[in-house]
Amino acid sequence: MKIILLLVTSVTLATSLESQAPEWTFTLKGNSGIVALESIIVSPTLALFFDRASDDPLQINNHSAWGALWDLQTSQVTPLDVTTNGFCASGGLISNGSMVSVGGFQKGFPGNPTIEDGTMGLRIFEPCNDPAGVGCTIFEDPSKLHLAERRYYPSSIRIPDGSLMIAGGSHNSVAFYNTIEEAASTIEFFPPKFGGVPRPSEFLKRTLPANLFPRQFVLPSGKIFMIANNQSIIYDIDTGDERILPDIPNGVRVTNPFDGSAILLPLSPPNFTPEVLACGGTNISDIVPPSEISSQTPATDQCSRILLTEEGIKRGWVIERMLEPRMMPELVHVPNGQILIINGARTGVTGIATVRDPVGNSNADNPAFTPSLYTPNAPLGRRISNIGMPTTDIARMYHSSVTLTPQGNFLIAGNNPNNDTNLTGPINTRSEFRVETLDPPFMFVPRPRILNAPEKLDFGKQSTLAVSIPTDLDPRNVQVALMDLGFSSHAFHSSARLVFMDARLSRDHSSLTITAPPNPNVYPPGPAFVFLTVDGVTSEGQQVMVGTGASPPQNNF
Ligand SMILES: *[C@@H]1O[C@H](CO)[C@@H](O)[C@H](O)[C@H]1NC(C)=O
Ligand SMILES: *[C@@H]1O[C@H](CO)[C@@H](O)[C@H](O)[C@H]1NC(C)=O
Ligand SMILES: *[C@@H]1O[C@H](CO)[C@@H](O)[C@H](O)[C@H]1NC(C)=O
Ligand SMILES: *[C@@H]1O[C@H](CO)[C@@H](O)[C@H](O)[C@H]1NC(C)=O
Ligand SMILES: *[C@@H]1O[C@H](CO)[C@@H](O)[C@H](O)[C@H]1NC(C)=O
Ligand SMILES: *[C@@H]1O[C@H](CO)[C@@H](O)[C@H](O)[C@H]1NC(C)=O
Repeated sequence: MKIILLLVTSVTLATSLESQAPEWTFTLKGNSGIVALESIIVSPTLALFFDRASDDPLQINNHSAWGALWDLQTSQVTPLDVTTNGFCASGGLISNGSMVSVGGFQKGFPGNPTIEDGTMGLRIFEPCNDPAGVGCTIFEDPSKLHLAERRYYPSSIRIPDGSLMIAGGSHNSVAFYNTIEEAASTIEFFPPKFGGVPRPSEFLKRTLPANLFPRQFVLPSGKIFMIANNQSIIYDIDTGDERILPDIPNGVRVTNPFDGSAILLPLSPPNFTPEVLACGGTNISDIVPPSEISSQTPATDQCSRILLTEEGIKRGWVIERMLEPRMMPELVHVPNGQILIINGARTGVTGIATVRDPVGNSNADNPAFTPSLYTPNAPLGRRISNIGMPTTDIARMYHSSVTLTPQGNFLIAGNNPNNDTNLTGPINTRSEFRVETLDPPFMFVPRPRILNAPEKLDFGKQSTLAVSIPTDLDPRNVQVALMDLGFSSHAFHSSARLVFMDARLSRDHSSLTITAPPNPNVYPPGPAFVFLTVDGVTSEGQQVMVGTGASPPQNNF
């Protein structure tokens, strides 16, 4: 009898939880003018988009624009003049606040003679103080300022001295897999280190051919965790030493052309113990030629998580399952510590018209239209839910992007599995210019506010911020997140990071004392947004500079 009663109660509980679940919404925002296949937040009010050299409608200097600024407040787009082809580049913010876009594709084709080869591209966008981006431009000087090696599909992260570490890619166009002939199986830095000579990586050789856009994360030890194909290592920047870690189980591969995504879970004081989650991708063998792969083959629903302590490494990857299979999912930090799982396709692989049965030109099909949330601290098997999540009808598969905004919602744009602008292929495979936001429920209620934040946060130091907190929120439940919002390209957010800070609210709830991360391994010096979450309701983010704001390398630690 008792058991039955208990069951009834828990069913009732589950139902009432469901009906109370806050509703998230998708909102259409306007038109991006270019396909936003890469995006990064570059100021409190601006996102920067890059597209490949194509025939997109937004024009500048008598040609299509291949870069643009998106105004988060007005949903207006401003073209940027990009000199070199930033197609399939990576990028990130460095310690002085500049955005650096890294690598790219060859000279434009078919009809864009105006773009220059971008495979060694370095494109710099200095901090932009005009809220609408007036006067802010991309700086390029390809003859003097360039990578040491050509890189198409590299990845890049900000490391503890505030520079970028740039890994992998291929030297030239590859049709699907990376190849032994074209692979850039090396690591280099911007600004350059070690005499500017790229350092060979056995890992990048061993993980061929499905190792484009290797996933990289700075650990609180200062070393770098890397995933490519189904393998992982810990990389020592000083020595170049590569410690081999366990493979991702079940033959699941998570880097391009089999993109899953991967993310460093939020780091919390006092120990900042790192854990990495990798979701989606496929278990297709990496020796199957694309002509034998189908756009209808289910992707994997596997998520794999590893605790990066000696004990965790011994245990290896722990498996859990998403609610649906996803190729090219995006994993994005939510300021409250959850992870948004969004976008991608339920079947197929990445790429353009190389599988045996492309849909239009798309190697992927069956878009995943409903996002989920992953709660890292929930019990295994109960971490993923889409209760309260809306469903869109806009496909976001190959060449789409998503980023958390300083406003606290998610900006979603792009999709184009074609070599050029394409407005006529089957639905879901055309060039997509519609911009949406995914709005958490807190966007529609009174929110906490950070009234003043210090311009700079010094490692290990306390700061006091004036705040205002709606009286209906429980002030005992306070979280303060220091975040790099990442550079979104090809199902990976380079440098994305969430570090929780110790935080104490004053008795009258009007001021908040926070402690900055202890050192640059926990949060590499550079720009960040601080978000205050009280009782599950998140403020807008306040931009701060972590560290001195000096140009890299910062070696004063
Ligand atoms: C743009 O094209 C028009 C017409 O072809 C020409 O008159 C004009 O000078 C061009 N402008 C630039 C900036 O090249
Ligand atoms: C990882 O992939 C390689 C081939 O690329 C394969 O030999 C190995 O068995 C895979 N590892 C696991 C754990 O499936
Ligand atoms: C991939 O996983 C599916 C589902 O578990 C399984 O049926 C299939 O045999 C696996 N394929 C490979 C190549 O391991
Ligand atoms: C668009 O893609 C379709 C295939 O989906 C192709 O038939 C068509 O030629 C393409 N159009 C352009 C302008 O590239
Ligand atoms: C797309 O471009 C690549 C060259 O980068 C070419 O090999 C391929 O055939 C093109 N695909 C289509 C569908 O036009
Ligand atoms: C930041 O550093 C980079 C690399 O040295 C440099 O190119 C850029 O101009 C610097 N930006 C600022 C704002 O100092």
